[in-house]
Amino acid sequence: MSATPPPADDGSSRYQDAEQPACQALTETVNLVFPEDANPKGTIFGGRILQWVDMVGAMAAQRHCRQIVVTAVMDTVVFRAPIYVGEYAVVKAWVNRAWHTSMEVEVRVEAEAPLTGERRLSVEAFVTFVAVDAHDHPTPVPPFIPQTPLEEDRFLAAEKRRAARMAYRQS
Ligand SMILES: CC(C)(COP(=O)(O)OP(=O)(O)OC[C@H]1O[C@@H](n2cnc3c(N)ncnc32)[C@H](O)[C@@H]1OP(=O)(O)O)[C@@H](O)C(=O)NCCC(=O)NCCS
Repeated sequence: MSATPPPADDGSSRYQDAEQPACQALTETVNLVFPEDANPKGTIFGGRILQWVDMVGAMAAQRHCRQIVVTAVMDTVVFRAPIYVGEYAVVKAWVNRAWHTSMEVEVRVEAEAPLTGERRLSVEAFVTFVAVDAHDHPTPVPPFIPQTPLEEDRFLAAEKRRAARMAYRQS
């Protein structure tokens, strides 16, 4: 996913040097699952979920850095439960950690029953986005400072996952 700001953006409102609170990046969309989103069993097609994971994840990353971002790595996508046609797919994304030019975004998709509001976890994923400049070269992102115990836990866990990714990259 590449999230590009509109042409009128002159960069004056970017937050390049500031630390960003987690709430700045938290992004949520709600999608009604239509038949065209589904496989012949009447449950959502995995590729459609990946599209939403990538899109909402990119928005969270971009809300953190306010720069163009590209998807570098999509890993640990776990499909835990199906979502049926007629249900809502609630897609939530937030930044766990930022490094020099990259950010780890966690994305969770929940199925919501429209008449009861009951929710169940459907998909969880971790996606690494990289901020790029006008020449598609990686460019620095603002630091991410965790502000709650939960964010601190996620921040620490993100470093372990990054180490695994870097080991895989170098293997
Ligand atoms: C993502 C991309 C910009 C990285 O470029 P690169 O030449 O590898 O640049 P670098 O080696 O400097 O890496 C840039 C950042 O990505 C991180 N990165 C790259 N590959 C990674 C991997 N496999 N796992 C984890 N992090 C990775 C690096 O650690 C670095 O992060 P840091 O600066 O925070 O430490 C480049 O590979 C690319 O353009 N890929 C295609 C993106 C794309 O088309 N996506 C789909 C559509 S948006």
